[in-house]
Amino acid sequence: MKILEVVKKQSRGCKPTEPLIFEKHVEHVVGVDLPPLDVQETKVPSGLAGGCKTLPSFGQHDVMAHYTHLSDRNFSVDGNFYPLGSCTMKHNPRVNEWGAALPGFACLHPLQDEDTIQGALRLLYETRTMLEEIAGLHEVSLQPAAGAHGEFTALKVIRAYFADHGQSERTVVLAADTAHGTNPASCTMCGASVQTVKTVDGQTDLEHLKEVIESVGAENIAAFMITNPSTAGLFDANIKEIADIMHEAGAKLYLDGANMNALLGRVRPGDFGADAMHYNTHKTFSTPHGGGGPGSGPIAVTEELAPYLPVPQVMMADDGSFYLDRDREKTIGKVRSFIGQFGVLVRCWAYISACGPNGLRNVSETAVLNANYIAAKLCGRYSMPFFDPKNGKFCAHEFVTVPQDLLDKGVTLIDITKRMIDYGVHPPTMHWPIHDCLMVEPTETESKAALDSFIDVMLQIADEISSEIELVIKAPLESDIARADEVAAARKPIIAFK
Ligand SMILES: Cc1ncc(COP(=O)(O)O)c(C=O)c1O
Repeated sequence: MKILEVVKKQSRGCKPTEPLIFEKHVEHVVGVDLPPLDVQETKVPSGLAGGCKTLPSFGQHDVMAHYTHLSDRNFSVDGNFYPLGSCTMKHNPRVNEWGAALPGFACLHPLQDEDTIQGALRLLYETRTMLEEIAGLHEVSLQPAAGAHGEFTALKVIRAYFADHGQSERTVVLAADTAHGTNPASCTMCGASVQTVKTVDGQTDLEHLKEVIESVGAENIAAFMITNPSTAGLFDANIKEIADIMHEAGAKLYLDGANMNALLGRVRPGDFGADAMHYNTHKTFSTPHGGGGPGSGPIAVTEELAPYLPVPQVMMADDGSFYLDRDREKTIGKVRSFIGQFGVLVRCWAYISACGPNGLRNVSETAVLNANYIAAKLCGRYSMPFFDPKNGKFCAHEFVTVPQDLLDKGVTLIDITKRMIDYGVHPPTMHWPIHDCLMVEPTETESKAALDSFIDVMLQIADEISSEIELVIKAPLESDIARADEVAAARKPIIAFK
């Protein structure tokens, strides 16, 4: 129990139940001093009065305390270990938040004249060129608002390229069986059909790839969408060969760059043959994300695809000033209002600029080292199908465990993850990319002490399953809410004031 006590001390997740603010109502207490009325008093029209007749009365400090207590009950990257695989929940340096909130950025109007927003355009131009260099590709568009939007936009670009080259019949996109759900969804949104390519041990099955090309017909294929490192946390060492196979078929290689956190400064997608890719800047280059936003998914493409990129494109004129090019003959057009997710791109610029080339390399090396460190410490108790260091099988920035031995003792995967909540750890991604798996991504921003504490938690849970299984089956025992009906919560939410 020693570990539990230590972890509980560090965790902010466990607080006593808080009454509703309505239950705390104190008659005749006013929490705000309004200035004396200096206009004629008039009745609020009934249609504007709203439905809530009994707002609670409360002192100002008590209101602050109430909502601070509630916010303390959130699980967050700031307060907890958050190893949510494939989501890169890394620390977001506060200086990036400060930069994004500077009035000169935050208060810009999207319709301002270009000569009044030269600083903002310069930031976008520099972000664009830095992302081009990191990708090893010719040109970046900052327009897409998320990773999935980047996939959609890049596929549109690829299809426009083929249409322009008399190959409109290329409407099939290949995707690995471990692909993120957004990959096939983006293809469908783009009017392309999807053919699945098998993976073996987390790597693309090259023979199956060739078979699929043969059966679909090379002339019908637009691209292969591949995630590298894959969603199983493995770098596909055959990537160059895969690119060659696709190019021989006359098709393009699209890299889902959501996992660039493992490649930064070490490998450039353009060098291994990618024709197009997207970044998830909110993951790789920091931005508090989750719960649906905010994000940004710039795409990078080769020179031959560049004419089809969306508009506007941020450009530098010969005199060093910056402007938005809205007039590209072959562009696919607009995919978003105005100039992209500006606030997220400020954070991206700040992150890359602060790290510099060596720092970015350090990011990916540490992210990969951290994942391998945890995997090596846990693999004796938590089976790992793709991790076998003695035979040279390491992971990239995340790893997958299928803890079958523990499940066979009578617990479910959800029991294990609920017990993790008791120890102040956010449950990892579950059941994806394979059934009954946990996908753990520690990121580079966790200290060795935090990694060791997580390892202790996982070993403790494994011990509990052998000796005190009820603790795991009944978990969480320490949180405000035990096991919510997650399906009902998603499908029939009951929204209430707190
Ligand atoms: C591998 C992969 N591809 C695509 C996406 C989609 O990115 P977004 O959520 O920004 O749309 C994600 C998101 O986590 C991902 O992990």
